[in-house]
Amino acid sequence: MKISPARRVKGTICLSGDKSISHRAALIAALANGKSHITNFSTSQDCASTLTCLRQLGVSIEHEESDVVIEARGRLSAPHVSTASLDCGNSGSTMRMLAGILAGHDFATLLTGDHSLQARPMKRIIEPLDLMGARIASDEGRPPLRIEGAMLNAISYELPVASAQVKTCVLFAGLLADGRTEVVERIGATRDHTERMLQWFGAPIEVTEDEASQTKTCAVVGPATFTGRDVRVPGDFSSAAFFIAAATLLPGSELEIADVGLNPTRTQFLETLRALGVKIEIREERIDCNEPVGTILIQGKDALGSTQVRPSKTSALTVDGQTTAALIDELPLLAVVGTQLPGGLIIRDARELRYKETDRIAATVQNLRAMGAEVAENDDGLAVAGAARLKGAQLDACGDHRIAMAFSVAALLAEGDSQISGSECVAISFPEFYERLESVVER
Ligand code: S3P
Repeated sequence: MKISPARRVKGTICLSGDKSISHRAALIAALANGKSHITNFSTSQDCASTLTCLRQLGVSIEHEESDVVIEARGRLSAPHVSTASLDCGNSGSTMRMLAGILAGHDFATLLTGDHSLQARPMKRIIEPLDLMGARIASDEGRPPLRIEGAMLNAISYELPVASAQVKTCVLFAGLLADGRTEVVERIGATRDHTERMLQWFGAPIEVTEDEASQTKTCAVVGPATFTGRDVRVPGDFSSAAFFIAAATLLPGSELEIADVGLNPTRTQFLETLRALGVKIEIREERIDCNEPVGTILIQGKDALGSTQVRPSKTSALTVDGQTTAALIDELPLLAVVGTQLPGGLIIRDARELRYKETDRIAATVQNLRAMGAEVAENDDGLAVAGAARLKGAQLDACGDHRIAMAFSVAALLAEGDSQISGSECVAISFPEFYERLESVVER
């Protein structure tokens, strides 16, 4: 993909349904009794992988564009061909969350994925599922996973890594286990779409927070039965982030992003930009299917000068601890934003980024350097020097959709054209990305 510099972005866009919420809507509908109609279902390849696996597990699914109708009977069935493997593609969410469900079913399955997924850590879900009584064989903690399900015991489990996928995996297993399964994490540590979706379906979930210890406990009681429900999925905030960044960094931009998910466990990127002085307005805020939704309006001023970014802010913006976890999917993009901040940016406590679809720290550093930015790579993060003039360059998506999109935004700011190799991987989360981007870019 060749990307030429842009003057600004202008217009109104709507985005395909949130990937995290779509996965959960489909998986929970597959455990419900009866029919669920999901609208604005994510067009991502990742969510298509979830549907393909569920079909192999006997769930009736009609899927047309962003409309999905699921009819389920509360339980999955063994794949018709017992030796068949379930292909999760590039999707860590599909593998980790589905594993929790399969662990509670009395048959064996094999979960595989593409080259990138085969390299991702699965010990984090094998451990709790093992404690619950499932038997899981892996390639030294990596896929493929051979899951031998069982009638599971309920457990109380404290998350050793801040991961919504692990939390969800254990809660899904808990829905099928005997008794009360609890997952304990730090308040606000991970996205809470599972809790919200289970509540929406009327499943037996209880969420409590303890201010003194700063912990949150999610508990489900199994074996649970609940009925199908209709779900409307909000636009994907993580997809919106690329447009928000482009509008922030290109002076004179004016962009409206309608009907986007505004769940506070996902919108730290907005808060971080706001703290830098960027003016972002939210309109038509409402709750839809138990998730906050609204319209984001953003006006780019003079990011490179200093009207947009506070002139006083000349020391590096530092992102660490809980804030890093809350920004997890937006960190490569934030690093691009960091190149335009007068004091630059430091990201710490982001080791998890090394275990995503690619090593996102290495991929971000490599591409920023190719564009002429000054960057230091650390074990658990990076440091970008401020207010760089980016140059068009030969960039590499490294097979990772978020790297491709973050550097497409960087290319809009650069001097001269850029080429991104492997950019077709944007389809993993956002197949319409380039089409939407061109619809608002002015050159
Ligand atoms: C996701 C959780 C995050 C995130 C991923 C989607 C989810 O992963 O990076 O893109 O839908 O639960 P972890 O749970 O591994 O942090």
